[in-house]
Amino acid sequence: MLEEFTFLATAKWPKNIQTKATAPSNIALVKYWGKEDIQIPKNTSLSFTLSNCKTTTFLELEEKKEAIEETQIRVFLDDKETPSFVPKIQKFFRLIDAYCPYLKHYNATIRTSNTFPHSSGIASSASGMAALALCLVQVEKSLQPEILEADLRKKASFLARLGSGSASRSIDGGLILWGKHQEIDGSSDLFAVPISSKIDPIFKDYQDTVLLIDRGQKQVSSSLGHSLMNGHPFAEARFAQAQNNITELQSYLASGNLKEFMRLVESEALTLHAMMMCSRPYFILMAPQTMEVIHKIWSYRDETKIPVCFTLDAGANVHLLYPKKYTTEVHEFIEQELKQHCQDQAFIHDEVGAGGEFL
Ligand code: DP6
Repeated sequence: MLEEFTFLATAKWPKNIQTKATAPSNIALVKYWGKEDIQIPKNTSLSFTLSNCKTTTFLELEEKKEAIEETQIRVFLDDKETPSFVPKIQKFFRLIDAYCPYLKHYNATIRTSNTFPHSSGIASSASGMAALALCLVQVEKSLQPEILEADLRKKASFLARLGSGSASRSIDGGLILWGKHQEIDGSSDLFAVPISSKIDPIFKDYQDTVLLIDRGQKQVSSSLGHSLMNGHPFAEARFAQAQNNITELQSYLASGNLKEFMRLVESEALTLHAMMMCSRPYFILMAPQTMEVIHKIWSYRDETKIPVCFTLDAGANVHLLYPKKYTTEVHEFIEQELKQHCQDQAFIHDEVGAGGEFL
């Protein structure tokens, strides 16, 4: 157990505690793919925190009659009770038990809603776990008011990571790094940190339009996905490549070299999918429309010289990344050329945001 993240208060427990928080999703530029116990990444990852795609969560803790009883957890998604979410939260609560000992005293009701549709193919685990972690550290603040905001946010990232690795990167805004990197002081496998090196202003309000190619549930769960890297023939080379890509990406972020930034970001996305295509078992998570869109992006970039590139998560959706000053042109391109490849012509405009908030 890590002393830094234990909860030291011995306060008298209030009968009822309510907290509320919101946290955005994030999009990785250098991907986290592969982990060991417990939620320790095999390589460093780096992401943009988003703004519009977010989860808002309301946590209510009510004192149990007997502390020895199993904690009752009820989860409501958009006001509808959703028992299928309970096992994941139960597992999360067990995992953080040593760091949040107050949870044992209470039954929990969690009311959560996402700004993006549940069936959009956008994973809600990053924003969802980050919002819940922010609610939990706010409980601590109410029990121990002298805790500093910076320590609360660090602990929130630490807790969120135990719920879902990428959620650790959804607490703070801007460009966020998670995972120990040999050349970056302050980097950690246990929690994410904003990158402290120089960032060209062009990246401060970068745009991300999520093209919803396939709104279905994920074909490969994240736990299965990460486990595919165990014993993968190219695993070690991939982990080393990610570490180098972090170093390279930092230099492009500092200089504003968009050509190299785009090359690296697209290469990361394709490498993630390449890893899946040669895993055992193997998967193809890109859909035919994903490929159509990628080729259209490349032609558009060649013809117009507008610096727009793509990245992918572990699914078919395409994230279109571009500087804010090209918003008008890129939105027109989406309307005329890309939205026809999206399921129900659906897409979501988003941009780099400021991170989670206590409400
Ligand atoms: C492809 O964070 O969803 O989006 O830790 O098992 O919850 P768990 O995995 P998760 O994995 C995200 C993988 C990714 C790349 C990334 O976000 O870095």
